[in-house]
Amino acid sequence: MQAHRHLVPPLAAKGHLVLDERELREWGRELGRASLPPLLITLTGELGAGKTTLARAICEGYGVEEPVTSPTYALVHQYSAPLSTVYHVDLYRLDDPSQLTNIGWDDLLSEHALVIVEWPERAGARIPEDHVPIDIDYAVGEPDRRLLLAG
Ligand SMILES: Nc1ncnc2c1ncn2[C@@H]1O[C@H](COP(=O)(O)OP(=O)(O)OP(=O)(O)O)[C@@H](O)[C@H]1O
Ligand SMILES: [Mg+2]
Repeated sequence: MQAHRHLVPPLAAKGHLVLDERELREWGRELGRASLPPLLITLTGELGAGKTTLARAICEGYGVEEPVTSPTYALVHQYSAPLSTVYHVDLYRLDDPSQLTNIGWDDLLSEHALVIVEWPERAGARIPEDHVPIDIDYAVGEPDRRLLLAG
């Protein structure tokens, strides 16, 4: 029997993964393969840290076949996958959490779906407690590596 491998490092709050882009994509695909709806994944990190890159890999692993592009302007992109609909949300341009109503936020969260949110901090208290938080940080002095803190 294959040994169980932790997707998220144990004691993740105290540890992190240091990944180059290929490794980060592979980790994301694995997370996508392991994801079951309903599930909310939040991706926090500075501009250009790799949130969309990771979201794309999660979608791939989850079985989305269409190209996944950044929803910065539309705020929400919707995809279909074998297990459920996928909503990829980018709240960078949200000025106030009250605007979430305009994008159907509460309905979207109550669906049996995979929801991936970039810039979740823009939603304030409207991010439900029950979610998988992932932080991506730049690694000092290593332009092609990122620190990933998950779970
Ligand atoms: N280890 C790495 N992991 C992820 N991306 C990397 C890594 N190293 C370099 N990159 C590059 O960093 C960029 C990340 O861009 P991406 O659009 O995914 O960031 P983002 O966090 O979504 O930005 P934004 O805040 O604008 O939405 C890409 O150009 C990617 O090639
Ligand atoms: Mg992005």
